[in-house]
Amino acid sequence: SKAAVGNGNPRDFIAKMKEGKKRIVIFYGSQTGTAEEYAIRLAKEAKSKFGLASLVCDPEEYDFENLDQLPEDCAVFFVVATYGEGEPTDNAVQLCQNLSDESFEFSNGEHKVPGVKYVVFGLGNKTYEHYNLISRNIDRDMEKMGAIRIGERGEGDDDKSMEEDYLEWKDGMWEAFAKAMNVEEGQGGDSPDFVVTEVYDHPQEKVYLGELSARALTRTKGIHDAKNPYPAPIIAAKELFAPGADRNCVHVEVSTEGSGITYQHGDHLGVWPSNADKEVDRLLYALGLHDKKDTVINIESLDPALAKVPFPVPTTYATVLRHYIDVSALAGRQILGALTKFAPTPEAEAILRELNSNKERYQSVVANGCMKLGEVLQYAAGNDLHAEPSPSNTTAWKIPFDIIVSSIPRLQPRFYSISSSPKLFPNSIHATVVVLKYQSERAPRVDSRWIYGVGSNFLLNLKYASHHDKTPPLVGETADGEPSLVTHYPSYSIEGPRGAYKQGDIVKVPIHVRRSTFRLPTNPKSPVIMIGPGTGVAPFRGFVQERVAMARRTIEKHGPEGLADWGPIRLYFGCRKSDQDFLYRDEWPEYAKELHGKFIMRCAFSREPPYKPDGGKIYVQDLIWEDAEQIADAILNGKGYVYVCGDAKSMSKSVEETLCRILGEAKGGSAEVEGAAELKLLKERNRLLLDVWS
Ligand code: 2AM
Repeated sequence: SKAAVGNGNPRDFIAKMKEGKKRIVIFYGSQTGTAEEYAIRLAKEAKSKFGLASLVCDPEEYDFENLDQLPEDCAVFFVVATYGEGEPTDNAVQLCQNLSDESFEFSNGEHKVPGVKYVVFGLGNKTYEHYNLISRNIDRDMEKMGAIRIGERGEGDDDKSMEEDYLEWKDGMWEAFAKAMNVEEGQGGDSPDFVVTEVYDHPQEKVYLGELSARALTRTKGIHDAKNPYPAPIIAAKELFAPGADRNCVHVEVSTEGSGITYQHGDHLGVWPSNADKEVDRLLYALGLHDKKDTVINIESLDPALAKVPFPVPTTYATVLRHYIDVSALAGRQILGALTKFAPTPEAEAILRELNSNKERYQSVVANGCMKLGEVLQYAAGNDLHAEPSPSNTTAWKIPFDIIVSSIPRLQPRFYSISSSPKLFPNSIHATVVVLKYQSERAPRVDSRWIYGVGSNFLLNLKYASHHDKTPPLVGETADGEPSLVTHYPSYSIEGPRGAYKQGDIVKVPIHVRRSTFRLPTNPKSPVIMIGPGTGVAPFRGFVQERVAMARRTIEKHGPEGLADWGPIRLYFGCRKSDQDFLYRDEWPEYAKELHGKFIMRCAFSREPPYKPDGGKIYVQDLIWEDAEQIADAILNGKGYVYVCGDAKSMSKSVEETLCRILGEAKGGSAEVEGAAELKLLKERNRLLLDVWS
């Protein structure tokens, strides 16, 4: 079907560009919002550098038939993420298909877009195999169709260096852009995205105080999803690690009863955290806003196409910092440049300017020091980062709040693999969350500091507040008898907007469920191999429960013989010590009993004997290698399924290598050739599934 051009067709992007006098159209392929953010940043830069307006588009909302009609003085940008196993994001599927499909005709009747100028920036992750495949494909397809790329294709690595990759790429691209479009720098201006106004007459009940949706504010019923999270009561919570461990791991169960929320084993639980008190205060003081933290503000976008207000308004300063923006995120290098002109002293200005312009300096101070924006402001002003922030030790900067809104990203939900099965727990969802804390590197003038993960520490606080487990969120002393630094665990106000998340002893947490494809085969005859050290075991608890539920039904009908032709399900688990961080240690034997020998669990305890002959640690991949024969048989002869969950960086890589060795050997060849080919085949047939994170 051809796009009806110029008939007010809302799916016609060229008509929209003409209407708004826009010379750039930017399509973003975004799943969690990062690509969209970069798309918006590019649009803003085009505006401030060249005075050019852009149309920033979700490709799902447009047709591409008239791409060949893009006027000569215009350009199209693609800012696209590559997902999972080399897939486009959901919203870019159609776009990618249209560009690659030779039989797709543009309005010129051909599969050609001669002379169309384009720019590509891809977002990928080097720990995954198909790094930036989608942006590369788009580049290839556009070139094939006769389009002309402006500058180099940019590629960002989400694993390590997205921001730096972007910064490094964009200047060269803009230079090429200026030439190709025949425009000059300096024609734009530093135009703000938003206007923030303080309002004094707004009805209090219509002010958002942390509500995540309009429905939450008006308390009207509606479907619960990512746009309208459900405040789920915590019905059980406990610490999973033994006392004396130097880390925490929270088991939490939330009730979904009456919410309409359903889930499957292997899905993800999205948890919407708020920010820790200390970080909220720090930034309030650094912005000089603590006196009017509860002042109601309205925020309007000056160009809604470019920048939507990223959270509900009207709201208050304190609410924005606590509930809506990610004040704990690493401060970006670029924003520091925009803030220099608000520095309280010439020294502070000089420090900020240097952090902005000198990449190595930024890396050693801000990145290695894991500094949040509030901390960078303190650092530049010569404040003590280690002190409890207070108005007297934190210099106030006069930074317009609209800059904060446009430069700190929205606080996103954190996702955890669900560790229960709906067949055993139809009305609740379990999550297994190791509490993230680590020490930053030392930076010049700043000692190492403890860095705390936002989502997991939020849950740790909820666990404590929910009174299901009275263990305080402290681990006690370190091995050498020093009081442990964990006594400084961040605290959170957990009452939520208008007390919605704490009613008496009931504590609630806003959640939604994200579907996944990480699922058991429906036929229990297929053998299953699950590899999940650490909290990577979470989804497999759900998997095993799923099979337990199925076994109960089968046994009810046919007795234990009913399981005779089931394939074995093998679980490879690893942790440090059997008496310390062995997750759900008491549950596995129970599951094994009910599965009558069909469940086999093997554990690698890395920090207790036995060690390898050379003294090295034993990990899950070593156990897999020991079981090479059974594993090869399950995969090659039994049409078995393999699941890996946990650390993407080293563990899942080593596991895949070991699988290659096993399969290579079984095929009478090498790991690199025959083994790798078998592994690839397994992936293509969706019989090797990964749920890994970095
Ligand atoms: P370690 O911390 O003693 O090195 C859960 O975190 C378990 O995974 C721990 O026993 C941890 O061992 C282990 N682990 C760490 N790195 C790993 C890797 N590259 N492959 C497999 N397991 C690993």
